[in-house]
Amino acid sequence: MKVLVVGGAGYIGSHAVYELIRAGHEVVVYDNLSTGHRDDVHAQARFVQGDIRDKKTLAACLQAENANKPFDVAMHFAAKLIVPESLSEPLAYYENNVEGVRVLLEVLAETGVKNFVFSSTAAVYGEPENGVCKEDDYTVPINPYGETKLAAERMITWVCAAHNMNYCILRYFNVAGADASLEIGLEKDTLTWIVPLVMQAALGIRDKLSIFGSDYNTPDGTCIRDYIHVTDLAKAHILGAEYLLKNNDSLLVNLGSGSGYSVREVVDAAQEMFDFEYEYVERRAGDPAKLTADISRAKELLGWKPELSLREMLKSDYDYRKKKSNK
Ligand code: UFG
Repeated sequence: MKVLVVGGAGYIGSHAVYELIRAGHEVVVYDNLSTGHRDDVHAQARFVQGDIRDKKTLAACLQAENANKPFDVAMHFAAKLIVPESLSEPLAYYENNVEGVRVLLEVLAETGVKNFVFSSTAAVYGEPENGVCKEDDYTVPINPYGETKLAAERMITWVCAAHNMNYCILRYFNVAGADASLEIGLEKDTLTWIVPLVMQAALGIRDKLSIFGSDYNTPDGTCIRDYIHVTDLAKAHILGAEYLLKNNDSLLVNLGSGSGYSVREVVDAAQEMFDFEYEYVERRAGDPAKLTADISRAKELLGWKPELSLREMLKSDYDYRKKKSNK
């Protein structure tokens, strides 16, 4: 396949590029490097620096590439994704996550790219009643991040129907870990995610980890989430693209592990490997007690299942950070 990877210099996008190259595909990365890193783009991928909202640069990239050999598929990873930031800067989220996708779809339609793989999120579900999300469940986002991803999802379905295109929408749950080569991983320390914060405590970058809340309606009182290794996630994108090409049809699937771990279980697993302190503090606003994925559709339609454990997510994130800090 020849694949355009928009946002291929970021955390998840760069892992998708590594898996695409390993599987022998031709890759062009388009990224504005606002949060991504040029060094994280695989050496065998071609790189074009540009913003998805900049139609002129994006269209020029697609026209130049298509003249050689048309793209089979485009993948989109160029989203803003920090929930607290989305609450304080909603317009920036609408501009990038909705307007950016609109411009990208316009250029794909105009240049004849028929297949589109889109990174979406469990945040579109909001606070599901039983904590297990199925793709056909109601979507009631509780923050601008989830709202903008849902708006983009809906736009994609209408645009694909109108322009005879196929989409594969992938709703990610809690992503963690680093590539086995340790060449790429999660660099941002500004994130509010639990795994990087545990690792910062393990590496002594922060004094201790705070566990937000111990009185949720869960077996140990801490929140339950569904963690998925970034490499498993990256591989699902290739299967999604292959599905589109083979079936000339669209799909929307959850990507998680299908089982949940409480915050306390994550901390216990990390404590088996690393020494760090933690404390229980007040609940964080907006955290649902349980959010896990039903992944039967991804298994059935993509033949996909996650292979890497929570332990491997924790260990690879730690090893990557350690390697970076020694450079
Ligand atoms: N948590 C702590 N201490 C911390 C950080 C987090 O106890 O220092 C807890 C949170 O309260 C929550 C759990 O760990 O219960 C997971 O929190 P994260 O911030 O790691 O992840 P979220 O589940 O809140 O959200 C993440 C992404 C969203 C995405 C969602 C999908 O931030 O973008 O996963 O499930 F939509």
